[in-house]
Amino acid sequence: MTQKIRIAIDGPAASGKSTTARLLAQKLGYLYIDTGAMYRAATLSVLRAGIDVHDEQAVVDHVRNIKISLKIVDGIQRTFLNDEDVSDQIRTPQINQIISVISSYPGVREVLIEQQRELAKEGGVVMDGRDIGTVVLPDAELKVFLVASIKERARRRQLDLERQGIKMDLKAIEQEIKQRDKLDSSRAQSPLKKADDARELDTTNLTIKEQVEIIYRWALEKIEKG
Ligand code: DC
Repeated sequence: MTQKIRIAIDGPAASGKSTTARLLAQKLGYLYIDTGAMYRAATLSVLRAGIDVHDEQAVVDHVRNIKISLKIVDGIQRTFLNDEDVSDQIRTPQINQIISVISSYPGVREVLIEQQRELAKEGGVVMDGRDIGTVVLPDAELKVFLVASIKERARRRQLDLERQGIKMDLKAIEQEIKQRDKLDSSRAQSPLKKADDARELDTTNLTIKEQVEIIYRWALEKIEKG
């Protein structure tokens, strides 16, 4: 019998995690869980509520009382905040600037991690983020850590933004990514870190198709073994 495994994909900002995880999940017929989108939706909600982002207690109380969900609409996964589709609003430079503060709060992480574990409990999931292999799903059958050069990551992020009609200078994007990497890696709670048992994949010179194919083969090895 083939088992439905849990696949954790971690890596720094703009390393290609979401696209890779989404396509891999499609190929395997698994559920894709974009944990970054969950932190993004929480950040949007805090901003909309006009809460001081440095008031940790107020932020945590707010996040405890919101509903974030991921649903497939017309074959595409969308992010919902209290039943409103916020998929486009959560990917803006403004959210990118504030999100490292919100996601560094232990209380915020506790709430979202619990929801993430719940979503993964049946197996058959591909989950991407920063702390999936280390904290959220430490027993995941396959853990992958994606890396890519800063230049390539900035170029990819610029293309993503262009598709949304947002123009941003490459150097400014590089700075923003470096800053977020630094904050994500140095925070005390669930920092971005490669799990000891994760397989590292450098995607700088790979196409999306190639990287999905490599991880798909790694997944099949695990599925067939189980
Ligand atoms: O993957 P992304 O760029 O959409 O993530 C946005 C931010 O959310 C990232 O800078 C840090 C935070 N994040 C996190 O702290 N833990 C996760 N599991 C996923 C994202």
